[in-house]
Amino acid sequence: MNIKNEIASMPGNFQLSVDRLVDEVGAAEKLGIQAYILFGIPTAKDGQGSSAWADDGIVQQALRALRSAHKDILLITDECFCEYTDHGHCGILKERRGTLDVDNDATLPNLARQCVSHVQAGADMVAPSGMMDGMVSAIRKGLDDAGRSDIPIMSYAAKYASGFYGPFRDAAESPPQFGDRSSYQMDPANTDEALREVALDLDEGADIVMVKPALSYLDIIRRVKDRFGVPVAAYNVSGEFAMVKAASARGWIDERRVTMEILTSIKRAGADMILTYHALDAARWLR
Ligand code: PBG
Ligand code: ZN
Repeated sequence: MNIKNEIASMPGNFQLSVDRLVDEVGAAEKLGIQAYILFGIPTAKDGQGSSAWADDGIVQQALRALRSAHKDILLITDECFCEYTDHGHCGILKERRGTLDVDNDATLPNLARQCVSHVQAGADMVAPSGMMDGMVSAIRKGLDDAGRSDIPIMSYAAKYASGFYGPFRDAAESPPQFGDRSSYQMDPANTDEALREVALDLDEGADIVMVKPALSYLDIIRRVKDRFGVPVAAYNVSGEFAMVKAASARGWIDERRVTMEILTSIKRAGADMILTYHALDAARWLR
């Protein structure tokens, strides 16, 4: 209760306990923000990340509290295991040729389970972010079997192995304890792979596809929008946010002007929606 810790590398963003989250969302809703994506930091982590699908898990608690306090908001849940595993990887591990790597297929049922649990607690949309192959079909089937074919899936379809996630890993207390995520995230030099990943996710039933990060990948946003004509989301990630904050704190750039220019560029590239840590500031400026 009563936790509101500012994240050092993400000024104005906080780790919140459920009670404080309800207040923060109330204030944000007054500014006109209608959609929220939830990330959880559990008290206990294990090899599988099993607290991710616990009925009394942190995100499940937050969903129930938000649902009863605020009726008109859209609640999206980030679906992944890196915050829940003791090793910090996005799925369960297996040994392959002497090294540990994520076991893609064994992670899929857990992912479906996490999604169903979030939806039962009140999520309106699920957003799998781990880049596991087949994640969208596994989740679609899990939700359908649970009688929730009404729930849309926003897939992190084109997610690059990026240096821009640095501040988020502090915020979510989830850096990989060994290795990196390049076996499941994409190579920044690759374009065609992004289009293939998006095509696969759409084929499996994704309703919205995401490109992440946004700024260094505006070309990918544009190509996805032009090629597929489906709803495209762009994730303006933590490192992109931190750069703007750091430079404006030194008076080197005009924060408001640069932020709005960045958000405009992401829209211009073809994003239908933007996930951004600038949301509260932008909402105030746009009023
Ligand atoms: C976890 C996840 C990450 C982000 C969102 N979901 C981190 C990662 O892949 O390392 C990054 C968000 C940000 O940097 O703002 N799968
Ligand atoms: Zn992850």
